[in-house]
Amino acid sequence: MTQPRNVVVGVAGGIAAYKACHLIRDFKEGGDDVRVVPTHNALNFVGAATFEALSGNPVDSGVFTRVDEVQHVRVGQEADLIVVAPATADVMARIAAGRADDLLTSTILVATCPIVLAPAMHTEMWLNPATQANVKTLRDRGITVLEPAHGRLTGADSGPGRMLEPAQIAELSRTVAQTGPFGRALEGQRVLISAGGTQENIDPVRFIGNHSSGRQGFALAEIAAQKGAQVTLVAGDTDELYTPPGAEVVRVSSTRELETAMNERAAAADIIIMAAAVADFRPQAASDSKLKKGSDSDALSRIDLVENPDVLRGLVDKREAGQTAARIVGFAAETDNVLDNGRAKLKRKGADMLMVNSVAGGAVFGQPRNSGWLLGADGSEVEIPDGPKQVVAARMWDVIERGNK
Ligand code: CTP
Repeated sequence: MTQPRNVVVGVAGGIAAYKACHLIRDFKEGGDDVRVVPTHNALNFVGAATFEALSGNPVDSGVFTRVDEVQHVRVGQEADLIVVAPATADVMARIAAGRADDLLTSTILVATCPIVLAPAMHTEMWLNPATQANVKTLRDRGITVLEPAHGRLTGADSGPGRMLEPAQIAELSRTVAQTGPFGRALEGQRVLISAGGTQENIDPVRFIGNHSSGRQGFALAEIAAQKGAQVTLVAGDTDELYTPPGAEVVRVSSTRELETAMNERAAAADIIIMAAAVADFRPQAASDSKLKKGSDSDALSRIDLVENPDVLRGLVDKREAGQTAARIVGFAAETDNVLDNGRAKLKRKGADMLMVNSVAGGAVFGQPRNSGWLLGADGSEVEIPDGPKQVVAARMWDVIERGNK
């Protein structure tokens, strides 16, 4: 879809309504045309003037203003994407029941575009069977109800129900607009993902590392969590990235730490993805004290390296020994003969699938976009076109989850 899109930001009556202001800005800065449709209750938290100023468009809640423009039908018909943030228990119940008692619910009843709801409520309300039944109804109808974050709520209590951050909602919504509703194909699946780069110490100050940002691994974890998976993320050195909702994040530094963390959790996983950029070699001996230019020049100018374990190959060996039943997906970064090298690497590593990226000319590492081919041990080859790493992750899962059936 080319920009600008017509994005409707629905805002329901919860304290997280103030965060909708950042979401509106995010879409505006991305070049979208934004129409804000708050419920009457949302206006108790944020005034219409704020929404009008941020969106540059008029703001109405009811269906009896600008009646000549038939707004209750037109706003929904013209929308390319509808995002409701925060989505309260009440607004989800009304949407699930097919009500059309204000402009937001009328708009949703008319719309045929992708719809994303970002819930925000107390944990008890989120877990209540009535809310969960409504969430299921909405998801079955193709509406994407995002998993809320786990964290501190309005009071001192904590649990699932906190609204995702506006930047996360914007990114996930754009992904849904491109790839379709997330669906729940990974419900009940235990997914173990490694992400980021490893660091191998030379001394307490210096290390050997790489340019990995961890973005692709985190994006895979985020989409898996949104598709219902129980996610464990083993993360090396990464940029500052959002923790996927409900995910366990284990921080590691060196390749050997990463190997231990992955091996310990492999038995309990259904799907393992090795997205980490693992350092192939490490200094033979790391110095306990800082090496000095003068006295330690020899040690600094020539660092003897030893090879690190191949974590992916080790996981495949574990499976062959019956210690895990997980399906195993690897990555391959190649600069030349990308597909041929990828095919050979898939065979060598014994994984079920390999996502082959071309990293020639600085592409991929640390960049927000990616592309490649997902190769299967069965000879399959799916091209994943260039896109933001989260879109790439959603397309990868569409292929990987087919193997669950
Ligand atoms: N990998 C691993 N352990 C290593 C090196 C790589 O588990 N010591 C994993 C990576 O996480 C990735 C896959 O193996 O999923 C391929 O990584 P890549 O660096 O492309 O391959 P290498 O095995 O290092 O081969 P080469 O550098 O010779 O291309």
